Amino acid sequence: MTTSSLPPLARESAQTAHSGIREIANLALTIPGAIRLEVGQPNFRTPEHVAAAARRAVDEGWTFYTQTQGLLSLREALVEKLARVNGIAATPQQITCGVGGVGVIAAAFASVLEAGDEVLLPDPAWPNYRIMCAWAHARLISYRCPAQAGYQPDVEHLASLITPRTKLIVVNSPNNPTGAIWSRDALVRIAELAQRHGVWMLSDECYDQIVFDGEGWSAAALAPGVPIISAFTFSKTYAMTGWRLGYAVAPEPLIDTMAKVLESTCSCPPTLSQKAAEAALAGPQAPVAEMVATYRRRRDLVAEILRADGLLAALPAGAFYVMADVSPSGMESRDFALALLRERGVAVAPGSAFGSVAAGAVRISLASSEDDLRTGAARLCAFVRERAGARG
Ligand SMILES: Cc1ncc(COP(=O)(O)O)c(C=O)c1O
Repeated sequence: MTTSSLPPLARESAQTAHSGIREIANLALTIPGAIRLEVGQPNFRTPEHVAAAARRAVDEGWTFYTQTQGLLSLREALVEKLARVNGIAATPQQITCGVGGVGVIAAAFASVLEAGDEVLLPDPAWPNYRIMCAWAHARLISYRCPAQAGYQPDVEHLASLITPRTKLIVVNSPNNPTGAIWSRDALVRIAELAQRHGVWMLSDECYDQIVFDGEGWSAAALAPGVPIISAFTFSKTYAMTGWRLGYAVAPEPLIDTMAKVLESTCSCPPTLSQKAAEAALAGPQAPVAEMVATYRRRRDLVAEILRADGLLAALPAGAFYVMADVSPSGMESRDFALALLRERGVAVAPGSAFGSVAAGAVRISLASSEDDLRTGAARLCAFVRERAGARG
């Protein structure tokens, strides 16, 4: 059947581009021995006590649907985690689990947005928000988080973009792709704007426990009473990307609406993953501290290599990414990433995949071995030097 003989597709979903990281990842798969620094997932195994809990859960028959929002026992454990780690006071009724952080974020989009609503997104931003705007028929409006400001949000720019159609402001700290931890002051000011204009704020805190320097802030803890949806995941903290379990905390009427969306899209989160997540929360936290220490070592290694060539865009304080400024090469980041992969066998994510602010930078993921990071970052620097030299 040819494409032209098919009935029409939903225009906005069909026309929106795939993530720009996928193009690089697909090409990397065709290049034997390519160094993969474009991937956004931990390269650690899930801690053994968590995996063991899932195996036990199979034997004990935890193979049925659960409540849509997730097991009450899991949500009770999350109440304790949210208070201890994030300073957020919540009840189990104010929490819903979902299929990954992406699942609860998508359910939040579906629960608050109507056609034509405007969504304020950071630039640069995780590409999935853009794709969500497409199926929600919402207008994406970007606010700047410039490299010169350490990729902190330009709150005045954000404020100038608010209109009567603004329905949702998305913030993301620790940030993908920049690794920036947004300041307490910026988050408070954004929360005040949300409050004043009567719009929802979605605080994507999927990297909440991957912090190298200083402290991360939860907007909901800083601004209680403001309508904030806080989204979290087990994927990054516990190296559980494939288990697909995330959760959100928000005012109860929104959680109830999200539960209807989730009922229709996944019925409930995977039961075995919920049992594994309970073990992750109840068990030793040393594996988390070890992973964070490893990411910090890798961050320092890459930062030192880039700094020597003046290519460190900003030192990340959390998440597991470093932005390299490749603008001296004279190339746009997508062209640069494609050429670096084809000519030097190193895959990185082009900044243009995340918006326009980072179009002169590329993202290096710290979820790769130290050897790969050392070789990959050195090749990247040499490639920039060579291209800059060729320009004269
Ligand atoms: C900023 C951000 N939010 C949310 C997610 C969702 O992660 P998951 O669906 O694996 O929990 C990711 C994953 O890469 C991310 O980078």
